[in-house]
Amino acid sequence: MVIKNITEDITPSNDWELYSLSETSRRVRMSEVGANIGPQGVDMRSLYRQAGVFSYDPGFANTASCESDITYIDGEKGVLLHRGYSIEQLCETASFPEVAWLLSHGELPTADEKAQFEKGLMREAHLHEQIRNFFNGFRRDSHPMAMLCGTLAGLSSFYGNQGADQRHKITPEEREESTLRLVAKMPTLAAWVYRYSRGLPLIYPRPGLSYAENCLHMLFSMPEAPWEVNPVLAKAFDKILMLHADHGQNVSTATVRMVGSTGVNPFVCIAAGVAALWGPAHGGANEAVLDMLDEIGTPENIPAFMKRVRNKEDKTRLMGFGHRVYKNCDPRAKLMRNICYEVLNELGIKHDPRLELALKLEETALNNGYFISRRLYPNVDFYSGIILRAMGIPSSMFTVFFAVARTAGWVAQWKEMLESKVGISRPRALYTGPAFRDVPEKEKQS
Ligand code: ACO
Repeated sequence: MVIKNITEDITPSNDWELYSLSETSRRVRMSEVGANIGPQGVDMRSLYRQAGVFSYDPGFANTASCESDITYIDGEKGVLLHRGYSIEQLCETASFPEVAWLLSHGELPTADEKAQFEKGLMREAHLHEQIRNFFNGFRRDSHPMAMLCGTLAGLSSFYGNQGADQRHKITPEEREESTLRLVAKMPTLAAWVYRYSRGLPLIYPRPGLSYAENCLHMLFSMPEAPWEVNPVLAKAFDKILMLHADHGQNVSTATVRMVGSTGVNPFVCIAAGVAALWGPAHGGANEAVLDMLDEIGTPENIPAFMKRVRNKEDKTRLMGFGHRVYKNCDPRAKLMRNICYEVLNELGIKHDPRLELALKLEETALNNGYFISRRLYPNVDFYSGIILRAMGIPSSMFTVFFAVARTAGWVAQWKEMLESKVGISRPRALYTGPAFRDVPEKEKQS
């Protein structure tokens, strides 16, 4: 197949022509679909109808599954924009709740909208008391992501069973309400998952604290000793949440959109996103980075580790390196590195052996032919684990807080998907199994 812009040989136009080089040559005309910045797309929707063939793109690396106004990524230049604002500027000037609002509403909130939103987040941060009972069904040593995923899906039975009734379409008001509730309740659920796994008393959200402060308060407070607000750590945590808030059509977001396209309620859509995020190739990588650093131990062991990474048979990867889209740098990784220094400085940690090992590992990889030729750079997860561990958050909770942050993006993407009225997602497969055949006759029983 050859695909070419027909501008080259016909009249100027935005149409593209796809034709087969085979004897039964078929010509299919498809229009270009415009992106505001970045590469344009070719609308393939009529391909099957016109030519009886469909596009084959396993992993969807070359396929736009939707139009979106939310997040733009330029993987070659290391650019990440939310609604047009660079992640660097947002990180400098905005808070996580402001970015959550921006993702869902398209603009940064006014002072009044911000105040109302923060008030709503506080009001909705509480969980129905019966939800405490959910936890008793889990083993205390369950992975926190298993508990988060299960309890989150269970919230749908408390907060509006939208989508359960086939005839009920989720209304715009319900969308707003669910968006607020999900962003608000995730920290409480996340903290309770942790408290349950440690056998600690569950702590309620405290009015007057910011979103990030409440996350830390619910994790670390004890009834007799409330967590003392540390503005530097709270700000760092807020930025970490912001850096994870949205990232285009990654696997968990695409999952949320896909599940949501069935019309099911948003709590289970987000639970599906949490399941997708758990994988070590996605959100589970920050936990895996620390496991890897612990396994390497000291800088002398780096060469032996690198040898294993280069050996395909070994299947070892340098966790926190590489990205499906970023091929030059992940802008979030740079910001995360700065936050890492801020936090360690605040905590008075002059020499963190793990950070020193990570820096050495990064330097070694960036100068290594294997990584250079494959364009592998540190991603957002390379430093986040070091920061969270230094703040006293156990590694099994890293992905849980990634999910708390990403909920802001998931709900925005879910809302946008519903508003686009595209309908149910349904990819197809290039069938490679047996062609028609008869079911063998069963052996006769004597
Ligand atoms: N360590 C060693 N080799 C790697 C790594 C890595 N971290 N990442 C990719 N490669 C190699 C592959 O083995 C492959 O080599 P080959 O061409 O010789 O076969 C080549 O680079 C391309 O790898 P792919 O897996 O095809 O690259 P892709 O872009 O699909 O993968 C991914 C992206 C999954 C993130 C990958 O880089 C990876 O597994 N990284 C480690 C896990 C990680 O940090 N994930 C977090 C991603 S960010 C996020 O989800 C928030």
